[in-house]
Amino acid sequence: MIEIENVRKSFGALEVLKGIDLTVAKGEVLTVIGGSGSGKSTLLTCINGLEPIDSGRILVDGIEVHARSTNLNQLRRKIGIVFQQYNAFPHLTVLENVMLAQRKVLGRPKAEAEAEAVRQLNHVGLGDKLTVYPSRLSGGQQQRMAIARALAMSPDYMLFDEVTSALDPQLVGEVLDTLRLLASEGMTMICVTHEMKFAREVSDRVAFFHQGVMAEIAPPAQLFEAPESPDLRKFLAATH
Ligand SMILES: Nc1ncnc2c1ncn2[C@@H]1O[C@H](COP(=O)(O)OP(=O)(O)O)[C@@H](O)[C@H]1O
Ligand SMILES: [Mg+2]
Repeated sequence: MIEIENVRKSFGALEVLKGIDLTVAKGEVLTVIGGSGSGKSTLLTCINGLEPIDSGRILVDGIEVHARSTNLNQLRRKIGIVFQQYNAFPHLTVLENVMLAQRKVLGRPKAEAEAEAVRQLNHVGLGDKLTVYPSRLSGGQQQRMAIARALAMSPDYMLFDEVTSALDPQLVGEVLDTLRLLASEGMTMICVTHEMKFAREVSDRVAFFHQGVMAEIAPPAQLFEAPESPDLRKFLAATH
């Protein structure tokens, strides 16, 4: 479970998260929508401890992310994160890319890391690309490799930050299908996305961020059919 309690975060004079309260249950799929600069990415980077927070707290399985005593490296193994663009190592094959962090961070023996990489690459539909170099993959395939790489670390939670935003439109579907698959398998996920149809289909709940505030959170049918705040209505009207 991820528990976010009254989290505030500023960059200089700019308050980017203005007291966020949110709990994500095990197995839940939460999507986060909202305009550019509303604090969505910052929330994700705070959850896995990449960014410090100013006040409040974030607990992952009861462990306080920003407590001094917390071993962040250990905690981050629970939390996979995939960004808009993934910089694979160009001189390593797809298989080697997916093995690398398992070897370096988890210290997995080579055979075990390889077996897990093969398993996860098959999982995301890249079982036929093991020996290919990343430059030979399409953008959608590269994002699926990034997802396989994160999954190979055996995370309990997955955070996705606009993983389809940099893709050509015809490649978006294959990546969303991979996210759908993970959701159907019970992965606990927070997905920041601009894909409203996807958010509607896959989410247990959708959170709307506006200027650093979680202005609305509800199951998708409710949030999309009966938005309460004028800001959300405006946002939805602009995205259709
Ligand atoms: N490292 C940083 N330093 C300074 N300002 C930042 C930094 N990261 C984000 N911001 C600012 O914080 C605000 C929220 O950013 P972000 O969380 O990336 O929004 P979103 O992902 O919703 O577009 C933006 O105004 C952005 O410019
Ligand atoms: Mg962002």
